[in-house]
Amino acid sequence: MDARNGIGGSLTGLDLRAEIDRLRKERNAVILAHYYQQSEIQDLADFVGDSLDLSRKAQATDADVIAFCGVKFMAETAKILSPDKIVVLPDLNAGCSLEDSCPADKFAAFRAAHPDHIALTYINCSTEVKALSDVIVTSSSAERILAQIPADQPIIFGPDKHLGGYLARKTGRDMLLWPGVCIVHEAFSETELLKLKALHPTAPVAAHPECPGYILDHADYVGSTSGILNYAKTMPGDTLIVATEPHIMHQMEKAMPGKTFIGAPGADGVCNCNICPYMALNTMEKLYLALRDLSPRIEIEEGLRLKAKHSLDRMLEMTA
Ligand code: 13P
Ligand code: SF4
Repeated sequence: MDARNGIGGSLTGLDLRAEIDRLRKERNAVILAHYYQQSEIQDLADFVGDSLDLSRKAQATDADVIAFCGVKFMAETAKILSPDKIVVLPDLNAGCSLEDSCPADKFAAFRAAHPDHIALTYINCSTEVKALSDVIVTSSSAERILAQIPADQPIIFGPDKHLGGYLARKTGRDMLLWPGVCIVHEAFSETELLKLKALHPTAPVAAHPECPGYILDHADYVGSTSGILNYAKTMPGDTLIVATEPHIMHQMEKAMPGKTFIGAPGADGVCNCNICPYMALNTMEKLYLALRDLSPRIEIEEGLRLKAKHSLDRMLEMTA
């Protein structure tokens, strides 16, 4: 039986939480987790955050090992910014539909067809696409960065057409959009959301800008995961409808036990159905094994890393 699949006999009976704590100390490791990770992983992480905060933590850490509980582009970002650290990702198959939608060769051809445009690119993309980009943005930094780009500068925005469309509507910037989507946020149903709103007429809706415009049209607040979390703390009333990956509600329920958080529904009307299948690949068992074996590791060829670092550095400078 394969111990790496987490079902193997060698892991039976292990206190995974205690073992992860022991290995974290032995390895001088830091565990970074995104808000979309399962609750158990969020609870043991040294830091839980959005894509921008996690990038900054990865850059600043003095740990020898970064165990990244998130998806591959996030762990690669950590390696780009901290090349001397060992970066492990519990499951290397933890990808992202936005990254998949934007192959580097097609993106390069798109850029070549628009030589007067700069490429403002969402962090949810491969290292190769970062290397082809001018400035990386996250959902919490995109507006700030866009405001610093001269109004007459033509822009390509990829790979998320919904985030790009939201930014274009909000700022009035006319950007060329790459046609990628997040399968998780794309799955929310407007009809079901309206039914839910009718059941909770005073509850505001907070939505991630990866949602399609027909969902954002019903939102009282639009922002990144950390933005949504902050909104939950200051919103009017005590019930919130949350249109993003439902694991973020773990942080809300912990911080605000007196409030009610309801996941926006998908087409079948079931709440909390929009679990990211990529984020869900990381488990306690795989995190334990990653710390034990220091594998699977993220490795990036140095020339490629330096090119990708350039666009990430610009994001960090422009949001300092
Ligand atoms: P943020 O945490 O930066 O809002 O990003 C959400 C996301 O889709 C991560 O995959
Ligand atoms: Fe990618 Fe969407 Fe999953 Fe985020 S939630 S990792 S954008 S598929």
